[in-house]
Amino acid sequence: MEIYLDTADLDAIEELSEILPIAGVTTNPSIVATGKHPLNVLLPKIRRIIGPSCTIFAQVLAREPESMIDEALYLNDLDPKLVVKIPAIASGFAAIMALSARSVRTLGTAIYSPMQGLFAAHAGACYVAPYVNRLDATGGDGIKMVQSLQKLLDLHEPSCSILAASFRTPSQVLDCLLAGARAVTIPPDVARQMLASPAVDVAIERFEKDWLKVFGNLSA
Ligand code: G3P
Repeated sequence: MEIYLDTADLDAIEELSEILPIAGVTTNPSIVATGKHPLNVLLPKIRRIIGPSCTIFAQVLAREPESMIDEALYLNDLDPKLVVKIPAIASGFAAIMALSARSVRTLGTAIYSPMQGLFAAHAGACYVAPYVNRLDATGGDGIKMVQSLQKLLDLHEPSCSILAASFRTPSQVLDCLLAGARAVTIPPDVARQMLASPAVDVAIERFEKDWLKVFGNLSA
């Protein structure tokens, strides 16, 4: 299982990577724009925080295969452990195929249907990123898409992993993991909701109070 943080917020990455055993950080052009650092500045900053063994994902902006490939090669040179995100559209499949032939690792992104994800995987993507909440928000069923896509990958492209993305609630993340997705990328606010445990906090305070009543201090 792999957990990624979907953010360019360096403080959030620092805070959450100390609590969660993250596999790395994912970004997209909107996320990078929010952080205001261009990728050649941002990626080394993220790398310094998460260390050498984690993976960073960065996305191409180009729309045509040749320019997608050039941009992917540029991004790939910016960081030693980068996976290039390529939109899973027709030109993206061509770019994924060409990059796969050059051993550049790719993720097919902006997946809104199981077949689209299977095509990206078949073209050679190591990961595919179904957009769970964005599909839910347009009247679709994001979890059902992840379940079908996982079944298709198990049957036809078992070396490709789902990296489920676009979450607004902890239960969307849970349902993707239950559907068999090997990886999820979580925005910091959803990660904080998943880490919050009010009922457990109450139980721990009760333990403390009971102990203090009898022993007067908290040393065992
Ligand atoms: O990184 C891509 C994906 O996570 C987009 O998420 O929150 O913008 O729907 P969101």
